[in-house]
Amino acid sequence: MYRLSILFVTCAIIGGVSASGDGSGGGKSEESQQSHEGEGKVSPIDMYRSLFEKHRVMQLDAVKSIQTFGDYAQRHQLVKIMVQQLFKVLGEGKVNLTEWGYMPGDPFPTNTTVRDSMSKVLENVAMFGDLVLRLPDIAHDIFDKNKEWQLILGWGVWFCNESKIFQGNSAKLLSLMAQEVNLVPRDENYVNPFKNENLMKEQMRITDSKQKSKSKKKKERKKGPRLSGGGKHTEL
Ligand SMILES: *[C@@H]1O[C@H](CO)[C@@H](O)[C@H](O)[C@H]1NC(C)=O
Ligand SMILES: *[C@@H]1O[C@H](CO)[C@@H](O)[C@H](O)[C@H]1NC(C)=O
Ligand SMILES: *[C@@H]1O[C@H](CO)[C@@H](O)[C@H](O)[C@H]1NC(C)=O
Repeated sequence: MYRLSILFVTCAIIGGVSASGDGSGGGKSEESQQSHEGEGKVSPIDMYRSLFEKHRVMQLDAVKSIQTFGDYAQRHQLVKIMVQQLFKVLGEGKVNLTEWGYMPGDPFPTNTTVRDSMSKVLENVAMFGDLVLRLPDIAHDIFDKNKEWQLILGWGVWFCNESKIFQGNSAKLLSLMAQEVNLVPRDENYVNPFKNENLMKEQMRITDSKQKSKSKKKKERKKGPRLSGGGKHTEL
């Protein structure tokens, strides 16, 4: 059940819900924004950036919950399904935007179909960044041998970089991810900032499962005397 709900949430993030879909009132608010430009109103691109950052929080929460989910094999399976879905959407976005002639850096799209596609590209590239930096062993194992995905991601990183939507931590994430998967040469002092955190989590998991099996043994041992009639542990 738990696995299914994580899967549902992440697949919804990957394929369905996207920042561009949040604008209620659609065309009308766009028009009024445009006619009020220059009067200190928030521009569509700035509005989009703030929605994008809100979605990033959700994505990061989802990826963090995968980090602590199940055992290695279960996490591997979950990440595999997600990455497959993610690149399916990303590949479609690439085909669509190329076909429609939308280039990153072009004026922010007012056409909601185009904007939705752009949004999916931006969000899924960012989410792949979360996955590969926070679950590096699993994500590399799944991603590194797929040439087609590498091409799509190369395009995606270029698209995100040129679109100027990623700022602050998101821009940092994009740059780190591109280095992590060797799309750009690594800085000489490059490190995956989550590497230690990831190691610590792994260590905690190991100690935790060791303690669990230890306390199991203890219980079993304690059971022994009771069964053989030693009345010391009657409180158990
Ligand atoms: C939006 O763009 C798509 C793809 O270019 C096009 O098919 C559609 O007609 C456009 N919609 C509007 C309302 O312009
Ligand atoms: C790409 O376009 C197809 C057909 O218009 C549409 O069904 C699909 O949702 C689009 N996907 C993306 C990611 O833009
Ligand atoms: C983004 O573009 C800048 C300027 O062209 C370039 O220096 C940088 O390496 C690019 N970053 C990524 C992650 O591709």
